[in-house]
Amino acid sequence: MKKIIPLVITILLSTAPIKAQKLTTENIPQVVKGLTLEEKINIVVGVGFYFPGITPESAKIKDKIPGAAGHSFAIDRIGLPQIVLADGPAGIRITPERPGDDKKYYATAFPIATLMASTWDLDLMKKVGEAFGEEAKEYGVDILLAPALNIHRNPLTGRNFEYYSEDPLLAGKMAAAFVKGVQEQGVGTSIKHFAANNQETNRITVNAVISERAMREIYLKGFEIAVKEAEPWTVMSAYNRINGVYASQRHDLLTDILRNEWNYDGFVMTDWFAGNSAVEQMKAGNDLLMPGIEKQREDIRKAIADGSLSMETLNQNVERILNIYTKTLSFKGYEPDGEPELKKHRELARKAATQGMVLLKNENQALPIQKTQKIALFGNASYDTFIGGTGSGDVNNIGDVTIIEGFKTNEISFDEELANVYQSYIKDEKAKLPPKEFAMVPDQMIDERTWTTEQLNSIADRNDVAIFTLGRSSGEFMDRSYENDYLLTEKELNAIKQLSKVFHDKEKKFIVLLNIGGVIETDSWKELADAILITWQPGQEAGNAVYDIVSGEVSPSGKLPMTFPVKISDHLSSENFPGKEYDLPMEGNISFMMARPAEVHYEEGIFVGYRHFETADVNTSFPFGYGQSYTSFEYKDLNVTENSGSFEISMTVENTGKMAAKEVVQLYVSAPESNLPKPIRELKGFLKTKTLSPGETQTLTFSISVDDLASYHTDRSAWITEAGEYTFQVGASVSDIKLVETANVPSEIIVSDVENQLKNIEMNLEEKEKEGSK
Ligand code: BGC
Repeated sequence: MKKIIPLVITILLSTAPIKAQKLTTENIPQVVKGLTLEEKINIVVGVGFYFPGITPESAKIKDKIPGAAGHSFAIDRIGLPQIVLADGPAGIRITPERPGDDKKYYATAFPIATLMASTWDLDLMKKVGEAFGEEAKEYGVDILLAPALNIHRNPLTGRNFEYYSEDPLLAGKMAAAFVKGVQEQGVGTSIKHFAANNQETNRITVNAVISERAMREIYLKGFEIAVKEAEPWTVMSAYNRINGVYASQRHDLLTDILRNEWNYDGFVMTDWFAGNSAVEQMKAGNDLLMPGIEKQREDIRKAIADGSLSMETLNQNVERILNIYTKTLSFKGYEPDGEPELKKHRELARKAATQGMVLLKNENQALPIQKTQKIALFGNASYDTFIGGTGSGDVNNIGDVTIIEGFKTNEISFDEELANVYQSYIKDEKAKLPPKEFAMVPDQMIDERTWTTEQLNSIADRNDVAIFTLGRSSGEFMDRSYENDYLLTEKELNAIKQLSKVFHDKEKKFIVLLNIGGVIETDSWKELADAILITWQPGQEAGNAVYDIVSGEVSPSGKLPMTFPVKISDHLSSENFPGKEYDLPMEGNISFMMARPAEVHYEEGIFVGYRHFETADVNTSFPFGYGQSYTSFEYKDLNVTENSGSFEISMTVENTGKMAAKEVVQLYVSAPESNLPKPIRELKGFLKTKTLSPGETQTLTFSISVDDLASYHTDRSAWITEAGEYTFQVGASVSDIKLVETANVPSEIIVSDVENQLKNIEMNLEEKEKEGSK
């Protein structure tokens, strides 16, 4: 009885509205005190999501901005409007049509994040962020559900295209630059998916078992950089479990590390339908549950009533959300004009795309092509170019420029007869494809067209050069398959072999364009082409940007943000990807996303990507950081100076070739011998030159703090920079080090003393499975 009376009083107090006070940035705690429990629940749980045929009719809400992934509830009596959250990493994902409105709301489809990372250009990334921000602002979006910065742990991850890199420094810096650009427009960001969402297979159940060191040095590092440098308004927690507990339900991840160690003061939202306990999410510091389901509302109500969730915790969740909502354009009463600067953004999308394309190979100056040369353009993707990936990373843009269209507009002469054959072949084959089960899943590919040698001979006779574009699409819900995706299909390989033979026999060049979103196998066939250019999925300006590079208007300056291995099994993660699925009951909050419990062990620890390849001396097809140019550069005059806890590393780049171009210069550091296994070298800085004319030089200066050299010592629960000799290496890629200099750290430095976190809570899935089968 004693317990019940205070409980009843609490409930009565929290349900009886106190005099409404209008919300301002100054009075949030007082306003929260005056909210009813239902109003608080309406702040921490989104309005829901309507999928025709999947979610109940009751979930149908009137979207303020159609097609935006999330909406909050308005609370009129405190002056809180509805807040709009929309994807995503390659452009604003909203529906172009709005009921009762003839106007179309198309967004710019920018290049995928992987291409942006390949630019290694933080100023450009920030400008692209500004453009996203401006489009969000004028289309009525308050918070952008981007950037996504999970690590490319394995080439087969279906969403790698949405992510930047296998390296956390590059990913974190890119994300920070993007966040700054967006938020300067008054629009919030949500850095996602926090953390270790490195696969799509069983993504909503999978338990990723990861050492604390790998978490801190690899999977959290990029987020830490983005949080500290750019203060994103929100963080989106990941679907997966980490060491036995859902990411969205881990207090140590969302509170101890994110807030207490990194001083984060925005709010955390779940990924859509993530986790299995609203109450644990609230307690962990996962403030907002998206998109919101009825059960979460009931669970919170019940937990407040029985005391298992304190009103204090709920109030804190609500306050954190309101702290951010009061910064939004909607709250400030901004009237979007529906007219973002699409024309300017189109130019920017084209420029960005040219800056991130990577020239893997260029023999006998196959590229750039001469305007007088006639091109035989092969490959479906030359005509049906993939501008981005699918799922929430997709964009509804006004129209794409395919590669053939780019060539046409820019007056490159190409074989029209061949083009006609391809175009009607693609149309017929596409018509035969079964309809997609669900609009968001990856597109089905059509087979490459086959050719007889005779046909190819006659095409080769009437053209000067052959270009074959190989395309790939991937996206949410599915990882890529090894065969017919990572590996080329038989038809693709045959086309490459035949074209190489036929064109080379006639002393004509053969060029391959890789219109891909992630790593594919290149080692077995790369010798067959004179030039290979990765165009990535370059956004809506694809064809124009490809023209810019192929014609030599712009010299390529992109470099790989990940390794292209000889064999996929050379990646240590391939041993454990995508983990094991257990024969246990399905889990999930919504029918189309149910999955069986699964577990994946990150046995490779910190040895992800080049950290493994370089340390274990494993050959690659193309190493991390690699990319050619139409010109050549000399690296010289390395100078390392130490000044009270920081190192200044300066060097000079000279354009020694014949074309104007930019160069990406990378700084790697090797640590002294230690008991802790360390990668042979790690990326610690990167800079891109301006466009250097032939003969021109530029001096670049990197600044590295002694703290940046620290590793995480789990046994001492601290980030420590060990004493000894550090080798600073400046290179054109991780395996092309040009200049080396050493510097000494005289004594050990404890950079930060933290608590051990992310303890593994065994899930014992194996035993549970055995018990179930008894
Ligand atoms: C994705 C998120 C996305 C959200 C909203 C989820 O399925 O994982 O990246 O922001 O949907 O569309």
